[in-house]
Amino acid sequence: MSTTRFDPARFKATQRANWDAMSGGWLSWQEKFERGAGPVSERLLALADVRAGQRVLDIGTGIGEPAVRAAELVGERGAVVAVDLSAEMVEIARRRSAGLGTVEVRQGDVETLDLPAGSFDAALSRWGLMFAVDHLAAFGAVARVLRPGGTLAASVWGPPETAPMVSRGFRVLAERLELPTPPPGEPSPYSMSDPDQLEYELRAAGFSEVEITDFSAPFWLTDPREYVEFYRTCSPPGLLTMIADRFGSADDPGTWDAIAASVEPYRADDGRIELPSRTLLVRAVTPSR
Ligand SMILES: C[S@@+](CC[C@H](N)C(=O)[O-])C[C@H]1O[C@@H](n2cnc3c(N)ncnc32)[C@H](O)[C@@H]1O
Repeated sequence: MSTTRFDPARFKATQRANWDAMSGGWLSWQEKFERGAGPVSERLLALADVRAGQRVLDIGTGIGEPAVRAAELVGERGAVVAVDLSAEMVEIARRRSAGLGTVEVRQGDVETLDLPAGSFDAALSRWGLMFAVDHLAAFGAVARVLRPGGTLAASVWGPPETAPMVSRGFRVLAERLELPTPPPGEPSPYSMSDPDQLEYELRAAGFSEVEITDFSAPFWLTDPREYVEFYRTCSPPGLLTMIADRFGSADDPGTWDAIAASVEPYRADDGRIELPSRTLLVRAVTPSR
């Protein structure tokens, strides 16, 4: 059993480096990823009731989603601030949103948002919040920058077995590389997958009117090789190094064939791989004064 203690500062530095390294992969995958993620953005924008003229914050924007879509809705009289931990993600999001004029992209940490109190009508986050080390600090920071009566709308992954788009490949890697299961409470893509705990944390951070609903993000791929490509381009570089160290090459066919095989059970009649993935949709409001 591992006796290594969790070090938040070290974890965050690794996160930053990993997301930096994955930013190019996420950009190259944007169009295919949006097949499943685009409908989630639309739900978030509807839940937060984003409208023309509003000020909207996007947290963990990655290469700029849903900030870019929000900018289209708020129009020229509105404004969008997009925040991400990774400088490389920020760089790409800046390039993607440059023509819009109303999007400001900043490097920052959701747990210590350096933004004026009460300055946003809505805060959005598509699969960004669950990487926070301290959930209460993150939710508290978001509540602080929202105006009274402002709305947070966010998506976070449900339990791994319900989200095959992200979990199938990782399960194969965890088995082949004998990766330890992170102890409960440590940040992971599934750290907010328990709706009761999530509601408790949001209320403890000062939100009211908390609603958590389910949505199935309709991801699909043309074939299992496309899933392999997703995992190769959008995984932390450390995993590829571990494959190389253990099996002699990052191209190890045993690993990638197993990842391809892991999505075969999801093959539809037309040959496509359908990976509808359960995401929790959070809507929470800051109390009106
Ligand atoms: C799964 S990606 C989602 C990106 C984008 N929202 C999307 O849906 O395409 C998660 C993003 O959260 C960012 N992130 C991780 N921890 C963060 C933190 N503490 N504060 C701000 N952003 C963070 C990462 O750098 C990464 O770009």
